[in-house]
Amino acid sequence: MKTEFIKLCRESDLPSGRGRRFMIDDENEAAVFKIGGEIFAVDNVCPHNHVPEIFNGYIEGHNVSCPVHGFTFSLETGLQPTGFGCRLRTFRIVREDGWILIEKPEESRFDFGADAYE
Ligand code: FES
Repeated sequence: MKTEFIKLCRESDLPSGRGRRFMIDDENEAAVFKIGGEIFAVDNVCPHNHVPEIFNGYIEGHNVSCPVHGFTFSLETGLQPTGFGCRLRTFRIVREDGWILIEKPEESRFDFGADAYE
């Protein structure tokens, strides 16, 4: 299956050092951060209590802390610094002619196991 990328915005439209929220499709939303010259995209929905507030998180280095209960995740790997516990999804970003594109997640966020009813 071919990886699909979706155009988000111009790179110049991203604020520096804080997050911006984007809908990728009907199920997935991303929090995108420009830190120094790097751009990171993670799930905007925190895996702890499923609150869509990661874009409002506190940045320290390449980590973001959820503003709701303070869980901290690496923007590069989605892991917590301890390496344990819930993990934040990360998305691949591509830069193209000044635009930022994000990889469309292949898996469905809401899988209610329709097969179970067949
Ligand atoms: S909802 Fe993010 S840390 Fe609890």
